[in-house]
Amino acid sequence: MWSNTLLALAPFVASSLAWTPPSYSGFNLRWTDAFGGSGGASPDQGNWNIITGDLNVNNELETCPLPKFVYFNSSSTRNLQLSGGNTLQIVPWKGGGTHGWTSGRIESKYTFTPAAGVVTRVEASIRFGSNPISAKQGLWPAFWMLGNSIRNGVQWPGCGELDIMETVNGLLTGYGTVHCDRAPGGICQETQGLGKSIGIPNQEFHVWRLEWDLTSSNWQSQSIKWFLDGQAYHTLTGGNIGNQAVWNTLAHAPMFFILNMAVGGGWPGNPNGVTQDGYGAMMEVGYVAHYQRNNMAAMKFANGNSSSAETDYPNTNTPVAPEMMALLDKEAPSISANTITRMARRFFS
Ligand SMILES: *[C@@H]1O[C@H](CO)[C@@H](O)[C@H](O)[C@H]1NC(C)=O
Ligand SMILES: *[C@@H]1O[C@H](CO)[C@@H](O)[C@H](O)[C@H]1NC(C)=O
Repeated sequence: MWSNTLLALAPFVASSLAWTPPSYSGFNLRWTDAFGGSGGASPDQGNWNIITGDLNVNNELETCPLPKFVYFNSSSTRNLQLSGGNTLQIVPWKGGGTHGWTSGRIESKYTFTPAAGVVTRVEASIRFGSNPISAKQGLWPAFWMLGNSIRNGVQWPGCGELDIMETVNGLLTGYGTVHCDRAPGGICQETQGLGKSIGIPNQEFHVWRLEWDLTSSNWQSQSIKWFLDGQAYHTLTGGNIGNQAVWNTLAHAPMFFILNMAVGGGWPGNPNGVTQDGYGAMMEVGYVAHYQRNNMAAMKFANGNSSSAETDYPNTNTPVAPEMMALLDKEAPSISANTITRMARRFFS
């Protein structure tokens, strides 16, 4: 505990490099892939399943509304490779495959369940290739998550799906969407899902984030929030879903990450004569990361006033949670209560 505390209190220096997972005050990094490695190599297969094939005929995922126009040839480093500059490149190419295009898709072996009582944050830094938007008809890059239960036979959308970033046809509009319950119809209005969109400044690196706030013990007050570059643009609460079992599939069950560049399908429509392929059409990913509010931050909720703790802490009138004081006192008896209080306030504000 104490060594964690020292680490947590160290200065937080956010790197200016878009592809380095940043440190966030009050959060511990639980898992990341920052896509280091030699240019032209496949991503770390300890972290990712490399997906190959026409997914619409893949048994495991056959019920997903998947693009029908692309062949994921992800084991080919032409379609999916480390850049050598700490990024992953997913590159669609014309010609080949069953439908005239090939592309790439990976799914994380890593799964996690958002922890009860704290805030969980996942994010990726993503940019798009520099081809003109007019030459991107049919391209459909995405950073998203599925409930791991789909790997154990639960059908889509009952497994739960959280789309953290999707764009179609190169347009500078990002979509954050949830899919759940049943299709067609159901709580998430399938097959459309419940989503919102936000304008994207340009095709350069931007950070796409999802946060679960499970600090409330009342499931209806818990929330999932979508962000672009720190700006929230979509919030969904347990109350919005209105069914605890369905909410549990989205907020209290293991999820895994997916990165893919689809081509064609019902939403974007198919590529046309001017759609260009190659690096100018790619999705490039700097990192994927999972963070969780650290133990110290979590402890403040142990004082039984979690509803106000988040917003109150920077306020110097708010007492430090007694449990935290007791624990720090036990772990580091030589540090005075005043010092602990000062450190805690500095840390949480
Ligand atoms: C997939 O990539 C491999 C290696 O580059 C290539 O030999 C194969 O033809 C590709 N498959 C399809 C369907 O394009
Ligand atoms: C909890 O927080 C609210 C709002 O800040 C405050 O009014 C209340 O007195 C607090 N209760 C306790 C037990 O600290």
